[in-house]
Amino acid sequence: MKYFIANWKAHKTIYEALDWIKIFTKVLSTDEDLLVKLSQNQIKIIVCPPSLYLYFLKQHIKEFNNVHIGTQDISMFEQGSYTGEVSASMLKPHIEYSIVGHSERRKEFHENETMIESKVKLLNKNAVTSILCVRNQHDSLYQSADLIAFEPVEAIGTGRNMSIQDVIEIKKTLNLQPHQPFIYGGSITAQDCREYKEGDEVDGFLIGKASLDAKEFIQIIKTFTS
Ligand code: PGA
Repeated sequence: MKYFIANWKAHKTIYEALDWIKIFTKVLSTDEDLLVKLSQNQIKIIVCPPSLYLYFLKQHIKEFNNVHIGTQDISMFEQGSYTGEVSASMLKPHIEYSIVGHSERRKEFHENETMIESKVKLLNKNAVTSILCVRNQHDSLYQSADLIAFEPVEAIGTGRNMSIQDVIEIKKTLNLQPHQPFIYGGSITAQDCREYKEGDEVDGFLIGKASLDAKEFIQIIKTFTS
């Protein structure tokens, strides 16, 4: 199974989000090759928009196998007096996946390992699949995290993706559990994703900027799985 996760971050108005999903579903529904791969569990696509859009986008992807909606984060609290928070149990009816521990959350919102561990636990408790982002071998890889996304800070949003050779070297040091797929993220584009096929070491991508364009996002999926 290869995973393709779109991380929109804080981009797009609701109108732009709906345009994106319309283009995405139109292209997907006419691509026999991708439809077969989706139905044969060779590919999984997870779109992570801003939480406000989850419900609206989900209505458009229901008919597709292995196309899911996820969140970019969840609250570290289960429920209670936490102004502004959206908890895992609230999101659960709308999502199957959630990113946690993204380096932007660690940096801009001062998330530490205790907070990230709470989030992973709450996702498990609510049967939402966790996509745990780690920046390097020093970040904790919780055994209960479902997918591990290796995202070197120097590669995120810089246009300088890490070479597959360096990614494989870091992977060796990560102590992944056998059940944990290994995802790479950091400046992935349709032009350079092919090199990550080497050795079949990378189980997919977490894609920021290039996922904002539905056609480029689909092109990455096609290039990596052809
Ligand atoms: P990028 O973002 O593809 O724009 O580098 C990846 C990420 O932050 O998940």
